[in-house]
Order: sequence, then C-alpha cells, then structure tokens
Amino acid sequence: MCGIVGYVGSRNAVPVLIEGLKRLEYRGYDSAGVAALEDGRLNIRKCVGRLRNLESQLHDTPLAGSPGIGHTRWATHGEPSDINSHPHTDSSGRIAVVHNGIIENYQELRRQLEARGHTFRSETDTEVLPHLIADELAAGAPDFEDALRRALGRARGAYALGILFADKPDTLYAARHGSPLIVGVGVGENFIASDVPAILNETSRVIYLNDGEIAALKPGGVTVSTLEGRSVQPAIKKVEIQAEAIERAGFETFMMKEIHEQPRVLRGLLDKHLDANGRVQLPGFPLAADYFENLSRIMIISCGTAYHAGMYGKLLLENLTDIPVETDLASEFRYRNPRLESGALVVAVSQSGETADTLASIRLARKWGCKVLSICNVQGSSLTRESDAVFYTEAGPEIGVASTKAYTAQLMAFCLLTLFIGRARGTIDDNLERALADALRRIPDAVHYVLGRKTEIQKIAGKHHDGPSSLYLGRKFNYPTALEGALKNKEISYQHAEGYAAGEMKHGPIALINEYLPVICICTRTDDEVYDKMISNMKEVEARHGRIIAIATDGDQSIADLAEDVIMVPDTRDEFSPLVNIVALQLLAYYAAQARGTDIDKPRNLAKSVTVE
Ligand code: AGP
Repeated sequence: MCGIVGYVGSRNAVPVLIEGLKRLEYRGYDSAGVAALEDGRLNIRKCVGRLRNLESQLHDTPLAGSPGIGHTRWATHGEPSDINSHPHTDSSGRIAVVHNGIIENYQELRRQLEARGHTFRSETDTEVLPHLIADELAAGAPDFEDALRRALGRARGAYALGILFADKPDTLYAARHGSPLIVGVGVGENFIASDVPAILNETSRVIYLNDGEIAALKPGGVTVSTLEGRSVQPAIKKVEIQAEAIERAGFETFMMKEIHEQPRVLRGLLDKHLDANGRVQLPGFPLAADYFENLSRIMIISCGTAYHAGMYGKLLLENLTDIPVETDLASEFRYRNPRLESGALVVAVSQSGETADTLASIRLARKWGCKVLSICNVQGSSLTRESDAVFYTEAGPEIGVASTKAYTAQLMAFCLLTLFIGRARGTIDDNLERALADALRRIPDAVHYVLGRKTEIQKIAGKHHDGPSSLYLGRKFNYPTALEGALKNKEISYQHAEGYAAGEMKHGPIALINEYLPVICICTRTDDEVYDKMISNMKEVEARHGRIIAIATDGDQSIADLAEDVIMVPDTRDEFSPLVNIVALQLLAYYAAQARGTDIDKPRNLAKSVTVE
C-alpha cells in the first residue's frame, strides 16, 4: 500500500526521497509527493500517477532542502488526484504530514476543525492530522512534539506518519500505530521508511518502531518516546538483507526473477531444516515436539495467496498427522465469532507480516489464550513480533506484487512443519519420514525442470491469453493450486480466471464451457482415485469442446491425448506436487500477462502489502 520515506541530514533530501520511493514502487500506488524544508519554508511537489510524473514536475520546478518527507499513495479516501496526494498540510502550510493507514474518525474531526476555521483542501482522512496538530499548537501545546502527541490522542485508526514543522527545521518526526514504520540510523543523517528496502542502499541499521511510539530524528541522533511521553531506549538492529536482493539481476521483471529464485529458496529451506537422516530440525524453535504431541487443534489464518498456502497446509497436516485443522480467511475469521479453545494453535501465514486482517485475527486469537505460530517472510514485521513462534520462509525480499517464491516457500514450510509434527505425534514413522524427506529433496530440481520448459509455456500462453475468461480445475492437494493459478492469472493478466475444485464443476461452472474457454486442468499422477476422477472431469470438459491445457506428469500419454496443450512436469510425490505444479501456472500467467501488455510487477489497483482492512 502507501509508502513513506523521510530524511534528515546535511544532504538535499529530495534525491534520497525519490530513490527511496522508487524502491517502494512495488507496494502499489497511484500518486506521489515530496516535501522539503528550505530556509524555513516547507515546499511541496505532488501529483497523480507514477513517480516519473513527480520527477518531471521536480525537473520543471526543482525542490531542495532537508529534512524531507516523501510518499506514494494508494487511494482509500478520495480518488487518486493531485490534491489528494500526500504530503498534506495545515491551513498555514507550516506543518506537513505523510500518512499510511486510515484515520477512522476523520469526518467527526474534520467537522470540529472546520467549525474552528481550518480550511481543508482534499477529500482524504489524512488531512485532519496536520490541522489537528496546528489546533493543538493554537490551544497552547508547549512544543511541537507535545502538539503531535495530543493530536494523535484525538485520532482513532491506524497510522504510520512522517511529519515536518517549518518552525522546527532540524527535526523530522515519525509516529506509528498499526501501520509499519522503521527508522534508519545513519552517520550524521537519519531516515524513516515504511519498509526496509526503501533505505537499504543508505543504511542497514534500523529501529523497528512499536505501536504507540513517536520518534524525533535529528542529523545527529534519534529519540523515541511513547504517546504518553515516556522515553524509550530503542534497539538498533542490523538488517540481514543485501541491497542486491532488491535488484532485478538482469531479469525483465522482479516477478520473473522471483519465479527463477524458487529452486534456490526451496533448497535453502531444506538444507537448513532437514538433517542427513531426513529428520526435520527446528533449532531454537520455541514450540517443542511435546507441545505438538498434546495439541488438540490447529487453525490456519491468512489472506490471498497465503490463504491458498494455508489450504494446502490443512490438507497436508490432516493427511500426515492426526490433528484436526481448519483454515479461514483472516477477513472472515475476525468477524465470524469463531469458537476456539485456548489449547488450539493458530497458524498465521503471511509474506509481509503486515496484513491488517491477519494481524487483527491473531490479536483476537491471543485474547482467547491461543498460541500463535507465524509462517512469515519478513524479519522484524509486526506479525513476527506478536507471535509465540516464527517459521521464517527466508525467500528474500519479494518485490513483484504477485507472490511467487514466497508462496512455494510457505508450502515448503508446511511440508517441514508437517514432518516435524507427524514425528512428534507418531503418525510418521521412520520409513515414511525417509520417503517424504527424499521426495522433498527432489523438489528444487523438479522446479528447475519446469523453469526449463518456459519457452513451451510461453507458446501455450500465446494461444490462450486473449479470451475473456479461463477456468482452473484441481482436486485434493492441487485444489489450492488451481485457486492460486487462477489468482496469479487475474492479478497480472487481468483476464477473468476462476479456480474451482474439479468435482464441483458439475454443480455450476460447467455451464461456462464452450469451444472458446481455456480450462487449465491440474492432473499430475497420484496414487489414489483422485487421478481417475480428474481424468473424468477432463473428459466432461472435452465433451463440451472446452480447450484443455493440462499440467501432467512427464510421459503421461493418456493426458496428452485428451488435452489441446500439455505442460509436462516431473513425477513428484502426490503430497508435494503443488510445489512443482504451481510454477508452471505462474509462468502461464506471466506469459499471458506479457502478451496482454500489462504492468507485471505493479498490476493495477493492487498493493504488495495490504495494511488496511
Ligand atoms: C499475492 O499474489 C497477492 N498479491 C495477495 O493475495 C497476498 O498474498 C495477500 O495480500 C496476503 O499478503 P501477505 O502474505 O503479505 O499477508
């Protein structure tokens, strides 16, 4: 969603802000702006559209100064427009604010402030903040920080803020409540950012602000205090990510780079967690084997792609352990009054660790006394800080908005956790453990093999990309794969795509099938009846002249005969086939998007990390 960057130091802030905002482009945005302080004046440039529009505005009417704040906006309140872009100021133009999050009581505050003579220019919720601060200063707040504290005391909702005062030119203020914000610690200069990549080229030393904290940054130091005014000793952490990890490394898009990183990411997880005997090791993991022995229930909560990983996790855990597992969308879970006993384990899956609904759900679960295990990709994220245990997916920064490597890493996390839990509960014996571990070790090569078929996949995508719709069918372990394949296609190619459990086809979607509809059928070989059932479903599609694109096991001639196009993948143990099959679907979606000419890394309307409800 929105991105924030701020700078205070002896350099001109503006190039630093623009570079930082470029590194946040992947989060999704529709307008951008910067403010900088020069000779006691707050100057602002902002406009709708991509950062290049802002850059050309800065080229025509240059801006310089320090401190400075910058923002990329993903519209929530008020359409994308120049006026609604951040930074926003108070009526006098001497206080400027950039904001991520939503101020829920902004209408009521705006009415109060307008009644007291404040003039509003935008339709945003954010604009109440600079006016509120000005209001508190006018009402006698002894200093700027105190005015900020009092103003935030009146605001309800979520925020990460960067604030400048024309009359306090040596300080950049920041505040956080419910939306992520970090402070980057430099030498003789300091930074703020909504996400580490924004400032990774400047510093790797960061302070993760906690909810309810305010930071005052000067060139020579940072002080942190709570909203109540209590001073806090901030912990400075070293970020392990290398700046190169957020470069495209010769690939045409981040998404293509990330698709190709999957064998390495999966191998990394296996090397870290599987010992030579095929036993899963979780060193330092706070939930020991005996905790899982007595566990009564697991509830998996997540959104979007991570929800599909959760669906797979449920199938795997229920097949290989004896624990009842439920899964739910975080946005449903938090409002459906779920019945959870305190002994249940809540597993939250999230690439970013900042998804608002997922965070709200685990907070709810904690209130009931449940332990929370998160499967997460971002160290230091809110989710990891609020969990009892974290399984890091260690996929490295994922910049493409459409999740790829984070998804397969989440699937692998479930595989490894299932082996661990199954052993702890005695449902996976030595022989099965060895067989599963051997099969898992073959996954990175199988993924690599699928990547090697990309030219073929590109040709198939070229044949089918131009229709209005497509249908994705799968069963059992590959039902989530069908949903995820369809989601990838919608997200980046904007073709309507419907993911369905193949057995449900007769109950409705079969009406869609005609000689124009591409039907992507995931039918890799299995040891149970699901394979035959899937073939029957494909026959039903064939009988109605649907255009079958099958994902099949190498050498499976019966499927080749049935389908118009086949993507062959290596023979993989049934339970683990989704880790391989999805890669074919990622590529299929990718090449469809390329043929349709979309902005693959930054699809319209989407945000990388959904920090509002
Ligand atoms: C994935 O391609 C999507 N962009 C989206 O569905 C994403 O998975 C979802 O928003 C959850 O994000 P999270 O994993 O960061 O919690």
